[in-house]
Amino acid sequence: MLAALPLALLCACADKANAPRQIVGADAAEGLRIAERVGCASCHVVPGISWPEGRSGGSLTGFGARPLISGRLPNQPDVLVQWIINAPSLDPSTGMPPMPLTQDQARDVAAYLYTLDED
Ligand code: HEC
Repeated sequence: MLAALPLALLCACADKANAPRQIVGADAAEGLRIAERVGCASCHVVPGISWPEGRSGGSLTGFGARPLISGRLPNQPDVLVQWIINAPSLDPSTGMPPMPLTQDQARDVAAYLYTLDED
């Protein structure tokens, strides 16, 4: 988790006007369970999931406070839900694969990611 510290410090400078973001009707606690089951943590450090702690996709610590998704897409609910389901549809060059999630499941996962705004 030490590797996540510089990111958390960077996020202290992020534009707070946009956070926290809301996803109406989504269940963040269920989102954490879905993220664990579908294997997000095989590529990402995900706070709340102790194993595995994948590195290829970067840490999602503090993601809720970041203004951009992968540094190039606006970090807004609709974009994030689409990213989680099918990132290549937004950016064909991305290394993040499509994930086998329904829209509702992806909304729950997105709601969980938006709880990760500690700085
Ligand atoms: C096979 C590896 C892999 C899996 C599994 C995976 N991702 Fe990713 N993810 C990536 C990579 C690689 C990137 C960086 C993509 C880029 O910058 O183009 C990324 C980027 C992201 C980002 C943007 C992060 C940022 O710093 O802006 C989010 C959010 C994200 N993934 C969420 C998820 C979620 C939620 C899941 C599970 C539903 C998941 N990922 C599963 C590889 C993966």
